[in-house]
Amino acid sequence: MQHKLKKSEDLPSFKNPASLSTNGKAFNDLTAAPVATSTLDLHENGAIESHQAAPQLEQPKFTLASPPRLIHCDESHGLRIYHGNCLELLDAIAEKYPQGRFDMIFADPPYFLSNGGITCHAGRMVKVNKGDWDKSRGVELNHEFNLEWLRRCQRVLKPNGTIWVSGTHHVIFSIGYAIQQLGYKILNDIAWEKPNPPPNLSCRYFTHSTETVLWAAKDERSKHIFNYQEMRKITGKQMKTVWNMTAPGNGEKIHGKHPTQKPVALIERCLLASTKEGDLVFDPFLGGGTTAVAALKTKRKCVAIELDEAHAKLSVQRIKSEAERQSGDLFA
Ligand SMILES: C[S@@+](CC[C@H](N)C(=O)[O-])C[C@H]1O[C@@H](n2cnc3c(N)ncnc32)[C@H](O)[C@@H]1O
Repeated sequence: MQHKLKKSEDLPSFKNPASLSTNGKAFNDLTAAPVATSTLDLHENGAIESHQAAPQLEQPKFTLASPPRLIHCDESHGLRIYHGNCLELLDAIAEKYPQGRFDMIFADPPYFLSNGGITCHAGRMVKVNKGDWDKSRGVELNHEFNLEWLRRCQRVLKPNGTIWVSGTHHVIFSIGYAIQQLGYKILNDIAWEKPNPPPNLSCRYFTHSTETVLWAAKDERSKHIFNYQEMRKITGKQMKTVWNMTAPGNGEKIHGKHPTQKPVALIERCLLASTKEGDLVFDPFLGGGTTAVAALKTKRKCVAIELDEAHAKLSVQRIKSEAERQSGDLFA
């Protein structure tokens, strides 16, 4: 059963371009929201072309590089990496593939935690500043953004597809609520436990040592894949929802660092649990490229997009290096 918002529960503002219906009126029924039409054409080879000038909007809240640009295409491994705004790319994909395109989505969205707090980095006290993309715009607007990208992800998932979304307490409750509002079916909440978290310098809180990864199916009717035996092999018994894994080490940062890089092992496990070899996965917030690297390692195909150009370039470097390593292994 999908939960529909009642009028009294309407979110305060739907003025942003992404949440307007095609006739310019804000919609207030989340699950019946009309499919946003895209001003972009997505070609078979992955290239994107704009077929009309972007609409002039008074004060766009989510203005980003437009249109998305295909910056890396490796057909032999089934990889396409874009630089730009995931909302735009998702609209173009939904228009071209109305029945759904992806078997699985891994999303590590902005956590909205770069707001002047302090943390410990390499033994030193530093301000939390991961980038402008990570600044909070207030609870309502943050939630509105989460609804917008999650709605689009749901549209591009195949009927039996699943989504994984990671986050800390700054964002995960909004994500969980949005997922329920949109009628996804929550399957599990994984606690990623870090054995060596940075100490809490203020000594006024417990040391933050977990992140949550929610796993959800497209909707209640989905017959999701779970590779139970493959997971069981890892632990020798039914795998629990607490996964103990170290943060990415230097070996995963030789081409440069992303401030919120996930360990390859974490995303590899999500892929192995919920997809088959050759399946197509999507990452709307690629960051430093971890999902694409994990997809390469596990022989899954991957489409992904990153907003920040420097991070997008880092992703491509990491992907090329992994592809070269694999072809080196082949001819060794
Ligand atoms: C939490 S990080 C992802 C880190 C990634 N999982 C990794 O392992 O490197 C979120 C990323 O989303 C990007 N981002 C933020 N808003 C975006 C948008 N609208 N479209 C595409 N990327 C976006 C940010 O630039 C940032 O690199």
